[in-house]
Amino acid sequence: MVRARIVGTGGYVPERVVTNHDLAERMDTSDEWIRQRSGIEERRWVTDETAADLAEQAARRALARAGLEPGDIDCIVLATLSAHAEFPGTSFFLQERLDCGEIPCFDLRAQCSGFLFGLATADSFIRAGQFRRVLLVGCEVHSTGLDISDRGRAVSVLFGDGAGAVVLEGSEKDDAGILEVRMHAEGRHARRLWIEAPGTGYPGPRLTEEHVRSGRIYPVMEGRFVFKHAVTRMPEVLLETLHAASLKLEDVDLFLFHQANLRINEYVMGQLGIPPEKAPSNIQRYGNCSAASIPLLLAEADEAGRLTPGTLVSMTAFGSGFSWASAVARL
Ligand code: UT7
Repeated sequence: MVRARIVGTGGYVPERVVTNHDLAERMDTSDEWIRQRSGIEERRWVTDETAADLAEQAARRALARAGLEPGDIDCIVLATLSAHAEFPGTSFFLQERLDCGEIPCFDLRAQCSGFLFGLATADSFIRAGQFRRVLLVGCEVHSTGLDISDRGRAVSVLFGDGAGAVVLEGSEKDDAGILEVRMHAEGRHARRLWIEAPGTGYPGPRLTEEHVRSGRIYPVMEGRFVFKHAVTRMPEVLLETLHAASLKLEDVDLFLFHQANLRINEYVMGQLGIPPEKAPSNIQRYGNCSAASIPLLLAEADEAGRLTPGTLVSMTAFGSGFSWASAVARL
């Protein structure tokens, strides 16, 4: 049986560090509030870099780690909620930069769960024999779309920019590869965490001065409602996925959780009895990088020597949509 194996990981964040104190100079917030509520201490925001720049850096690192050239890839899947252009998707700008021939590429929109939805997609392609190697990227430039004012403070302090990538390759090694991915969605909560404009969800022009003035171009979130759902859905789908793979919590070496809020992850870990040393986090340094959070964690774990052959990794995310998913993979 062919399975998709992770053969390379790469992460990239912009150089510019924005601390909580920096934000407190621009809006009515404080280092104390941000740390206490979310665990975030600083994040990276772009200066003149674009989404495709971040994606390219992460992709090249993942390819180098896999010992591959861009020409060795058969397909690119890119998960994002902050695309390089309205259309086409960021993946097309990435494909141009990688100069990897006329291989198919497309963007996938499942917000903070995007990387795991992408993992399921890439895994299915590889299992079906459609492609041998897929480059999967999660990439976000949030900073240029945030409301950096008192009005936006509840959301803007949470998000950071970054990209992470993995190369997936078909393998017949019985015990290695993506073992299970489970995904869910609940569209009736789409408006609890969203950006309304520009969009085609109402009659008239997609973008007007009124949209800008009223702040409908910025992300809004019902924070507490999202929090409650995240701490329920994440353990639920994590256990569902392990069960489907006939695995137990104790079998897992590394738990990688989407980095939306350190408190959410601590709560989930407490519920499941997961020790902190098994669940590394980077939200303190990067904030919430949506689709990039999990592949950034993967790249960091790889660099730290924690992704050795046989390592069992569980990855779980929850986000806008609502969407939530979990995957379990053996290196
Ligand atoms: O990645 C996608 C998934 N996203 C998530 O999972 C995020 C889930 N939600 C959360 O993580 C939390 O709800 C937040 C961190 C966003 C907010 O924490 P909270 O404890 O739920 O705070 P709150 O929204 O209920 O606001 C509490 C107070 C309010 O003031 P009053 O009404 O109590 O006077 C807010 O106006 O904190 C105020 N506030 C702030 N104060 C200082 C909101 N944002 C800020 C801020 N700085 N940045």
